[in-house]
Amino acid sequence: MMELHYFDELPSTSQTAALAAREGAAHLYTVVAARQTAGRGRLQRSFYSPEGGLYFSTVLRTALTPAQYGAVTPFAAVAVMRAITRVCGVPPKIKWVNDLLLDGKKICGILAESGRDVTGTPYIILGIGINTGKTDFPSELREIATFVPCPDKNVLLRAVLHELADVEREVREGTWLEAYRAHSAVIGREVCVIEGEGRRYATALDVLPSGALLVQDETGKSEELCGGEISLRLLAK
Ligand code: BTN
Repeated sequence: MMELHYFDELPSTSQTAALAAREGAAHLYTVVAARQTAGRGRLQRSFYSPEGGLYFSTVLRTALTPAQYGAVTPFAAVAVMRAITRVCGVPPKIKWVNDLLLDGKKICGILAESGRDVTGTPYIILGIGINTGKTDFPSELREIATFVPCPDKNVLLRAVLHELADVEREVREGTWLEAYRAHSAVIGREVCVIEGEGRRYATALDVLPSGALLVQDETGKSEELCGGEISLRLLAK
């Protein structure tokens, strides 16, 4: 059973959902806001969250081990990709780890955070922001972000939650992997690996069941990337 809580405005739905999770909120307890004033992104970035988008955070309760958590984020990208395809009628691409792209521009960001509730039981908060509204993006986002036309945000929200519900089985069995590979915007392409101030170039070979990206550099050395960031844009050397 999913429990939905709607707000006109919040600093961040993930912050509100985490407070509820700490107090024992159940699997798929979900906080939705029409806009956020302090939307959080990966790597300590902010997430632009004006009216018109779909911003929500849901509590995931699973018996997965922390070692399996790395697969929850790419699985979530597949879940949102499936829901957007069904409800909005366009199939987004997935940029590792879990950005969704339309025409090469970002339409959705996903932030997974884990914690423990007051009884010590672990939980994951999955924060999802989808640009569903035609937005005048600030100039620094105009080149990299776009929106996906959505007939009904509430239907999309429920479709995403439906796709997420079986997270434990999907991650254990790896059933997300085939769809992830089929929709990947990076497999087979040259990517720029960003590490702090450092940049290096490699070819993305595959995504592994752990969620890691397998890349190979010019010398033939291969490596599994487990976090951080890659760019397709910084390839113009
Ligand atoms: C990213 O692209 O770096 C991840 C962005 C995640 C944004 C969503 S919007 C709903 C939830 N609340 C937040 O503060 N962040 C997530």
